[in-house]
Amino acid sequence: MTSRKKSSAVSGPRFAVRHSKIHGNGVFALVDIRKGERIIEYKGKHRTWVDASADYPEAPKGEPEHTFLFSLDDDMVIDGNIDGNSARWINHSCAPNCEAVDDKGRIFIEAIRHIKPGQELNYDYNLQFEERYTAAVKKRFPCWCGNKTCRGTLLGPKERK
Ligand SMILES: C[S@@+](CC[C@H](N)C(=O)[O-])C[C@H]1O[C@@H](n2cnc3c(N)ncnc32)[C@H](O)[C@@H]1O
Ligand SMILES: [Zn+2]
Repeated sequence: MTSRKKSSAVSGPRFAVRHSKIHGNGVFALVDIRKGERIIEYKGKHRTWVDASADYPEAPKGEPEHTFLFSLDDDMVIDGNIDGNSARWINHSCAPNCEAVDDKGRIFIEAIRHIKPGQELNYDYNLQFEERYTAAVKKRFPCWCGNKTCRGTLLGPKERK
């Protein structure tokens, strides 16, 4: 009689969604995640900015915006509200341990350093808008990551086109 050798590696969930001190829910490592590891794909419906923004009105004046939209380019977003997964709960940090990588139009969240169990996963949202970043605009996208290097906003430095 033959028996198949069992693998000694036991794979379980590598992260979990929990309450975050930064904002609402966040995603936390349950195991060691090594630098360079691909953790999760940012899933959701690919649709145009115009389409998506028609569904989600801006926050009332003076209140921070909240979004599950991941911007792919000037035209397209991934809408995490529709067919999304846990990636939509990953918060922004100005000193992130992950980055969002574009792989042929699909977005993957990858570790840029070693992440220990219990640590929150985050990446730099680097939000880009054409309008001038006045204090009022920055206030619509405040950052509460709490890092020494926090720039105070989820907006990234303007990228040249
Ligand atoms: C993709 S959701 C992340 C999940 C979010 N924590 C929640 O519970 O819905 C993105 C939204 O979370 C909030 N957020 C994420 N990172 C933040 C941060 N560092 N500071 C303040 N708000 C943040 C903002 O409202 C942002 O639009
Ligand atoms: Zn910050």
